[in-house]
Amino acid sequence: MNLPDLKEARKRTDKKVDYLENDNNIKKIFENKKYFLKTYGCQMNVHDSEEIRKYLEMLGFTSTDNLEDSDIVVLNTCAIRENAHDKVFGYLGRCKHLKKEKPGLIVAIGGCMSQEENVVNEIKTKHPYVDIVFGTHNINELPKLILNAKGKLDIEVYSNEGNVFENVIYSRDSKIKAWVNIMYGCDKFCTYCIVPYTRGKQRSRKMDKILEEVIDLKNNGYKEVTLLGQNVNAYGKDLEENYDFATLLENVAKTNIERVRFVTSHPWDFTDEMIDIIAKYENIMPYIHLPLQSGSSKILKLMGRRYTKEEYLELYKKIKSKVKDVAITTDIIVGFPNETEEDFNETLDVVEKCKFDGAYTFIYSKREGTPASLIKDSIDLKTKEERLYKLNELINKYSKEANEKYLDKNVKVLVEGISEKDSTKLFGYTDTMKLVNITGDKSNIGKIVNVKITDAKSFSLDGEICNG
Ligand code: 5AD
Ligand code: SF4
Repeated sequence: MNLPDLKEARKRTDKKVDYLENDNNIKKIFENKKYFLKTYGCQMNVHDSEEIRKYLEMLGFTSTDNLEDSDIVVLNTCAIRENAHDKVFGYLGRCKHLKKEKPGLIVAIGGCMSQEENVVNEIKTKHPYVDIVFGTHNINELPKLILNAKGKLDIEVYSNEGNVFENVIYSRDSKIKAWVNIMYGCDKFCTYCIVPYTRGKQRSRKMDKILEEVIDLKNNGYKEVTLLGQNVNAYGKDLEENYDFATLLENVAKTNIERVRFVTSHPWDFTDEMIDIIAKYENIMPYIHLPLQSGSSKILKLMGRRYTKEEYLELYKKIKSKVKDVAITTDIIVGFPNETEEDFNETLDVVEKCKFDGAYTFIYSKREGTPASLIKDSIDLKTKEERLYKLNELINKYSKEANEKYLDKNVKVLVEGISEKDSTKLFGYTDTMKLVNITGDKSNIGKIVNVKITDAKSFSLDGEICNG
């Protein structure tokens, strides 16, 4: 694999991609050409796609939702579970077919899958019609790779030594709310997880750079920022400066941007000070995504999660008691190798006790190269599927109950736009991250308004704008 020197790459990055901004001829090259950009996976990838899109648009491409209409296909991939991998190779089949009709089509693959050596080898040997493979540490190289695409595979993936890139430019999805990276990578090495290998070791951005970005967004009319990291509570631990996530959060709150959110939290790094800051500032939203993964202390140990069932429950209780009306959601994996019925029942027990507002639930998926992949598993898929079903029933019961508490209440909602499902309705999110479909006038888009909740479903609320 081609792994260029990162120091050299840094030098190029510091110059941003001015070479595009200042050269009008380049833009013409792809005028009237269309791009199809497909994003898989987490918010990190969604935000990376905002960078990818910026480059595509700078090169003159315009967007299309129809792959068959496109002149360049960019797949921003996820490696976290096997099915994400299968979906990407499904799309590649369509690209192969399309390329027969349109030999000029450029096919580019980025994201976490391209950081996996075995995937890159698979592309090399079985998918020769792919033009570009780029990694998560060198997205800024994409314009050059596209300009140089010669109809033969060009692989430019950096190893995991990545530094923090500043001055990144984005074509953001929204003019109302924005993602802000506060760190890259992860040092936790949970035994089932591929992220530390695909995204590299933890690298925090300097606090002043993050604050600059937030202030800039606020000055440009943004109402909400979400601070992004695989493990935000560990923010700063890799920096020489003596500051942590609590300090960062407080400083972001002090910019007075109307809403501050953050994902994802890890129970291990969650300090009392962080809870106090979240409770203290009105513009820090009372919503926390706090992955549990398993309720069994035995499985948690095998997962390398560094907390027990009891410690999770204690933290949960503390957050609930200190942060008024907080909503807490979680991630749970069922069927980790050798998870017994008793272990699974421990997970159900935590769900019963916590009554989460919602949860993302997954069947364990073996990831090559992770420590858990070496454990011989004695549990069959059918048992895992049955456990997932049972878990989901319980999760859904509690999300509905959590939503029902909002009935007839007046809540603040940041209106984001027109509902995709019903064009006569608006949609937005409460402070606690509940999706609300709203009856009201379009002039409210971009505003934080009072909404009276008229109906509560399992996954959303209905409401109408009121003036009180
Ligand atoms: N199998 C199943 N789920 C996984 N996750 C991460 N790795 C795996 C895996 N190998 C889940 C975790 C994590 C979420 C983003 O994805 O629950 O919190
Ligand atoms: Fe993966 Fe664990 Fe890091 Fe989350 S904290 S990204 S699950 S290694």
